[in-house]
Amino acid sequence: MSVTLLSSPLQGFTDFRFRNAFQKYFGGIDTFYAPYIRLDGKLKIKNSYQRDLLPAHNTELEVIPQIMTNDADEFLFVVKYIQELGYSELNWNLGCPYPMVTKRGMGSGLICDPEKIDHILNRVHNETDIVVSMKMRMGYDNPEEILETFPILDKYPLKNIAIHARIGKQLYKGGVNLEAFQRCVENTSHKLYYNGDITSVAKFKDMQDRFPSIDHWMIGRGLIADPFLPSMIKNNTLEHPKNRWEIFSEFHDTIYHEYDAFLSGPTPIKMKMQGFWEYFSTAFSNPQKTFKKIKKANNPKAYQQAVSDILKNE
Ligand SMILES: Cc1cc2nc3c(=O)[nH]c(=O)nc-3n(C[C@H](O)[C@H](O)[C@H](O)COP(=O)(O)O)c2cc1C
Repeated sequence: MSVTLLSSPLQGFTDFRFRNAFQKYFGGIDTFYAPYIRLDGKLKIKNSYQRDLLPAHNTELEVIPQIMTNDADEFLFVVKYIQELGYSELNWNLGCPYPMVTKRGMGSGLICDPEKIDHILNRVHNETDIVVSMKMRMGYDNPEEILETFPILDKYPLKNIAIHARIGKQLYKGGVNLEAFQRCVENTSHKLYYNGDITSVAKFKDMQDRFPSIDHWMIGRGLIADPFLPSMIKNNTLEHPKNRWEIFSEFHDTIYHEYDAFLSGPTPIKMKMQGFWEYFSTAFSNPQKTFKKIKKANNPKAYQQAVSDILKNE
């Protein structure tokens, strides 16, 4: 069966700088989802979202923009914005688990409100010709919520529904619920993509064996932790390339220089790279020691030295 791999968006990580460097050094991803656009009541697109979606910043890869909202007018506004940029699909985030979002009936807090979902999809399909896809958890409180929502979703020509096989109140804790994901497979006529905890080729193969009807797979954190993972899945190999750390080092230096040129001052770049290292370090032989070294590096010179020491030890 063919395998299509999607990069699952991570706000604060998978922006255009990361995506372009990833594509240059690793490959293996067919389509990248951009992190969500959120308007917060004002019909205005923040500069950071604008920069991220600018076609000139995304020439080498296929990108699908994403929105997080529970408001039809906001949705329509963003559709118009992305269509003017040349995009033809908008992905709708019904997965975000954070209470600040869910308490306001957005992200995974919207899954239990099929009427509102119906209203928004109805307006979007009547008033625009945008292709809509969904990215959802299976519920906020329980994984049956999505089953109640499927009859509404089945009324619309959605391109696909990507499902992160957790519920919102779990945040990122506990495991994925594969029994509940199987119930999703059995209860919708839409094409489903699987998302959640694909962190190695072996794990990917387990998922593929378990869900033979799924041929689209989204990878989020696993791709940052080990950026070789998508190409290894595609090449059906458990082996990293021989020059693994050389390639990683070039990739690292590329994103470091790009973020350093954009962010001003030593603290923002430290925090940015530390965020990446929280994931990168998990692929090193001693994750804790690796991350500690990065955290301790309090100026750019010490940081470069720490990275160089870490890579030399691998
Ligand atoms: C820091 C962080 C930021 C995220 N930002 C987004 C986002 O902007 N849009 C979205 O749909 N999901 C977002 N997610 C969820 C991931 O895309 C993904 O669905 C989730 O991590 C499960 O997949 P994984 O186990 O492969 O990481 C985010 C997750 C994390 C940890």
